Amino acid sequence: MSAFPENFLWGAATAAYQVEGAYLEDGKTLSVVDESIAPEYADTSIASDHYHRFKEDIRLMKELGLTAYRFSIAWTRILPNGRGEINQSGIDFYNQLIDELLKNEIEPIVTIYHFDLPVVLQKEYGGFSSRKIIPDFIEYCRVLFEQFGDRVKYWLTINEQSNMFLLPYLISFTEDSEQSLLKQKYEMNHIMTLAHASAVSLCRELLPNAKIGPALGVSPIYPKTSNPKDILAAEKAEELRNTFFLELYCKGQYLPSMLAYMQAHDCMPMIESGDMDQIKAGKCDFIGLNYYDSKTVEHVTEQDCAKELVINKAGEVGSTEKEVIEGIYKGCSNPYLERNDWDWEIDPEGLRITLNRIYQRYEMPLLITENGLGAIDTLTEKQQIHDDYRIDYLKKHLEQVHLAIVQDGVEVFGFCPWSFIDLISTTSGFRKRYGFVYVDRTDTDVRELTRYKKDSFYWYQGVIRGNGKRL
Ligand code: BG6
Repeated sequence: MSAFPENFLWGAATAAYQVEGAYLEDGKTLSVVDESIAPEYADTSIASDHYHRFKEDIRLMKELGLTAYRFSIAWTRILPNGRGEINQSGIDFYNQLIDELLKNEIEPIVTIYHFDLPVVLQKEYGGFSSRKIIPDFIEYCRVLFEQFGDRVKYWLTINEQSNMFLLPYLISFTEDSEQSLLKQKYEMNHIMTLAHASAVSLCRELLPNAKIGPALGVSPIYPKTSNPKDILAAEKAEELRNTFFLELYCKGQYLPSMLAYMQAHDCMPMIESGDMDQIKAGKCDFIGLNYYDSKTVEHVTEQDCAKELVINKAGEVGSTEKEVIEGIYKGCSNPYLERNDWDWEIDPEGLRITLNRIYQRYEMPLLITENGLGAIDTLTEKQQIHDDYRIDYLKKHLEQVHLAIVQDGVEVFGFCPWSFIDLISTTSGFRKRYGFVYVDRTDTDVRELTRYKKDSFYWYQGVIRGNGKRL
């Protein structure tokens, strides 16, 4: 196997609320995700205690050989009231984190917004459901660019705008709104796109040498059979779930089929004059991709009623209920793929398919901002974690990234698996782990939070040392 490109960013990723803890320390206030974790799982008060142990964690990153680290900044640490007064302790924390990374030759990749909207802004005007968020978001971005832009070259605007459609728990919609939930989602999406584009434009103005893009959650969509009806369903699902967002980010336009869909379903957002120019002006430099699985769909019949996705949060195999989008598609399982305990279908080739679909269409550099396997890990008596399943998952996915680069000509400039260290999963607490580094705690017992290197840590270390030659 040939090596990966020179200067390929060998990274790993985390997000503030899932890893930091200290959720009310040094001036920080609560975000909507701090409040939304189910009571049976660990809350964000301590998480992996990265806030207090970041130096120890960076020593582990160095030992692992990382050349990049993707992390998010907590808006509520920087601007505890959502806007206005800057919290110096928050700035100090991220300054120390960034300086420590650079001292260890690790490139910081900063996510500006990873689900953690300040509660105050949600209460005041409904967060991203109101255009009032745009100036507040931009003020927050300005603070980040001014404070950290001298050292941070790579920025990610919004994490998984696409998934917020599927997973309403990621955003608090207004229950008493007169608008349908669908309409609220499309309104929110338009406002988020404006916020994203404004952040890109501000970054260009303040930091002309920086690179900025979104972190999009993507799953390629396959038809269940070669029945043209299933193929059409898959193409429509691909537009609805993936291309819709990519067209906005990369071309600054609404896909014609999506305009027709929004008209037909009475969920057209309010597009004010100047909006589309603003979105066009904020075209990103690269696309960050969070990839975990693929999806398979079939056509719907007249008997199929609309149904929301029910996620498997408990890790009980088979408890996912796939969504039905009336008149368009119905989710189904793929008999060719294995799945994890949370029913996520493991599909390494799907990553190559995704990289190709996106790159061949937009020709924009791609950064893999997340990829990984959530699993229940066991700490042995000798303090080891034999996570061969995770090594197998990452190895197969990296092989496909390599093929996309060398055989398909796709430009991928980095790989940031999820996650560097164990952290709170969005749905399943510490039960579902992703890290190269084990954190000794459970959802109910915080213990000493001691860090242990998993087998996957040593495997990834070898991969990085050989620049991907030895997977
Ligand atoms: C992505 C998110 O959706 O997937 C992460 O950006 C999240 O925040 C990751 O942790 C894995 O999902 P989960 O639900 O298994 O934690």
